[in-house]
This record gives sequence, structure tokens and C-alpha cells, in this order.
Amino acid sequence: MLSKKKKTNEKEVVSTTYASRFFTKPISRYHIPDDGMDADVVYQLIHDELNIDGNPALNLATFVTTWMEPQAEKLIMETLNKNLVDQDEYPQTGIIQERVINMLAHLFHAPENKEYIGTATIGSSEAIMLGLLAHKWHWREKRKQQGKPTQNPNMVIGADVHVVWEKFARYFDVEMRMIPMQKNRFTITAEEVKQQIDENTICVGVVMGTTFTGQLDPVQEINTMLEEVENEKGWHIPIHVDGASGGFILPFLYPDFKWDFRLSHVCSINVSGHKYGLVYPGVGWLVMRDKSDLPEELIFYVNYLGSEEATYTLNFSRGSAMMVVQYYNLIRLGKKGYRQIMENSLENARYLAAMINKIKYFDLINKDIKLPILALTVTESAGFSVYQLSDKLRERGWIVPAYSLPAAANGIKVLRIVIKENFSRDMADMLIQDMLRFSKELTGEKKPKPESSCRNQVHKNIC
Ligand SMILES: Cc1ncc(COP(=O)(O)O)c(C=O)c1O
Repeated sequence: MLSKKKKTNEKEVVSTTYASRFFTKPISRYHIPDDGMDADVVYQLIHDELNIDGNPALNLATFVTTWMEPQAEKLIMETLNKNLVDQDEYPQTGIIQERVINMLAHLFHAPENKEYIGTATIGSSEAIMLGLLAHKWHWREKRKQQGKPTQNPNMVIGADVHVVWEKFARYFDVEMRMIPMQKNRFTITAEEVKQQIDENTICVGVVMGTTFTGQLDPVQEINTMLEEVENEKGWHIPIHVDGASGGFILPFLYPDFKWDFRLSHVCSINVSGHKYGLVYPGVGWLVMRDKSDLPEELIFYVNYLGSEEATYTLNFSRGSAMMVVQYYNLIRLGKKGYRQIMENSLENARYLAAMINKIKYFDLINKDIKLPILALTVTESAGFSVYQLSDKLRERGWIVPAYSLPAAANGIKVLRIVIKENFSRDMADMLIQDMLRFSKELTGEKKPKPESSCRNQVHKNIC
């Protein structure tokens, strides 16, 4: 038998994290506890709790980057404690931000004879708000100079826009003229836009890679129509291009496709660095064609950080790490590297689409796949819903969202699959195998053998 003293010592020596007393006690959830806890224990508790979350590598719902190189992660760790707004204290960080804005302005073909301007944001949402605010103020300024009323600004968008556009309209008091979706078309047309614009239109919103189906609004046709309207009526209506996803894909996959500042009315563009810019969540970009489109009143100057600094953002403090690794990606990959990654993603998306096309239960919504994003419906005869299949796929860890399209296409329910850099051909095969297996299960057809026992049979099973 051990003596009491020896027992105590032994307990101290073998007091591992998992054996710690905290694991048998509840932790405080809604009130700050009176006493603190051991750092290792707290780490382990929170780490374990977060295991309940989905696996980001299997998250095909998100457009947002879920993998970065270890060297980028090292830079993230080194810059986590730098506030991007403190440009006096961290001038080099500010210089890097300027470099990225320049790179993007060139990528988007900002005209040589204008002075482009831009800013890093927390994501596309902030960038869109800032771009639209600039258009609202610019429109109001022009109207005031002309002695015309300024009470009723409107903007024209399609129902294919992301919710942030609706938020802008409500938060900043702009009438939203939303063109509904059709039952067989999920983008807008120039003619529909023409019906909605007038002299109070602050801008037209055009999406390059819609959130719902990954399709492109016809930006060239809309630009031509706006040129004609300007010639006829003298209204200069700018376009804000929402390139949240497409902004980092189109320049590399389709360099000759004009969607950016090469079009005369495109005055501002947002892009999510954390989507196909290949950076973890927390960075977006706004680039404006010409500094004169950004009214001076929207720029704030603060001197309490050491020197006078200009800010045009909605947030003040924010991390600089994601902005820094945007720069890392741009110089690490170069145009060639980005092109290769986008080509791979598109090839895998098209491969997956070809497989889906062979399965009788599914119908692809976006048959002409320009961006690596798939949207599909379940056929009526299948007898199960997109929601049921989405739940089933979740059992295997796949996160594939199911939702209904906006009005008037809201009868259509879809599954969306976003193909990213870390989605391999092998994963595509596994996903399609699971989609088929679960679909058969839902229809009551015989369950095929699990994936491991029918290696290399993906094509056979589908056909
Ligand atoms: C077309 C589009 N615009 C804007 C956003 C909002 O972007 P963020 O999440 O970067 O704020 C998204 C997000 O998915 C999007 O798809």
C-alpha cells in the first residue's frame, strides 16, 4: 500500500492535461468565471469543443479559402499582432497594402490616364458598401451642382446579388430596384436594367460569379446600354462590379474577356482576397477607377496614431496578417501560378459536372461552367429533396449547402458545390460516389457497396 504522502506526489507528477481536474467539472459558459484556469487546459478544452465544427477541407459550401501554404501561415503568425490602421507605427505594412492595390488596379486594367485608388477591407461586403457609398455621394454632389433634387437615390441590381447589396440599400437609405430572377434564367439582362434606371440611379450592380449559381451578369451588354443612355439622355450611370469570386478568376482564365475597367462605365470593383485570392478569411479589396469618383468628404483624416492618416473604411482597427499574405500569394504565385490554380479548379469542376450529368437524379443549373462553381437541382422523379441529400452528405463530412433561389425562381431548390484549390480529382470521385450512394439510399434503391470495396469503379457505377 502507498503512503498518503507518496500518493500526493504521484498525483502531481502524472497530472497531465487530459487528467486535469477541469475535465470533470463544467466550465463557465455564459458568465466570466471568478478564477482563471491553466493555459494548457483551456487550450485543450476549446480545441476539443471546436472539433464539433465541420472539417474546412470538406466545406464545399464556402467560397472562402480553407488551405494556405505553411510559409504563409508563418507570416500570419508573425503579423497577427499588427493593427493595419496603425500605419505610422507599421509603415511597411502600409506600403505593402499600397503595393497590392497597385497590383489589383493593373490586373483590372485601370486606365493609365486616371488616378486609381483603393483600400483593403475586411471582405467584399465592406468593399461593396464603400464603393456604393462613393457612388451615392458622387451622384448627390453632381445633382447639387445641377440644382436638382437629391432625395431619392436608387440603385439597380438583380435578385442574383449577395445580401450585402440589400443591406447597403437599407442601411444607407437608397431605393433598391431589384430585377427578379426568371424561372429559367438566374442573371439579369441589359434590357431589364434599362427599364429600371433613371437620373436618380447612383449605380448599376453587376455580379461576376453570383452567389447562387456562380454565373456572370452580362456586363458588356449592360455597359453598352449605359453608353447609349448617356449619349441619349446625358445620365452618366456608373457600374459597380461585384467580383467577390470572379475578380481573382477571370483575369487568369479569360484574360481577353472584358469585365473590368476596360469597360467605360465600370467605376469600382470589389474582390474577396479570401475567396479565389487564396487567403484565409479576413481580406477584401475595393479598387476605384478614378480618385475623383471618391468624394473627399468620405475620407477621414486622423492624427492620433502619430501622423496624419487618411482612412476610407467602415472598420477602424483590423488585423494586417491576411492583407500581408495576400501580397505573399501574389508574388509567390505570380500570374502563372494563379492561372494554374484556377485552371485546375475549373478542370475539376468540369469533371465533376460531367459525372453529375450522367446521374439521372441530377440536373446542372449552370451548364456552361465559366467559374469553378456548380449549382444543381434534384429531378422531380428522384423522389428526394436537395435538403435530404445535403443532410446525408453531412454524415460523411461533406458540406454541400441546399437552398432555394430568390424570387421569382424560388420554386427551384439547389445544391451548390464550390471547387477550390484543395479539392482534388480524387475528392471529386469520392464525392460523386457518395452523392450516388446516398441518392440511391434516399430513393430506396439497393445500397451500393461502400467506396473502399469498389475502388476505381466510380465511372462504372454512374453509367
Ligand atoms: C457575389 C458576392 N458578393 C459579395 C459577397 C460577400 O463577400 P464577403 O464574404 O467577402 O464579405 C459574396 C460572398 O459570398 C459573394 O458571393
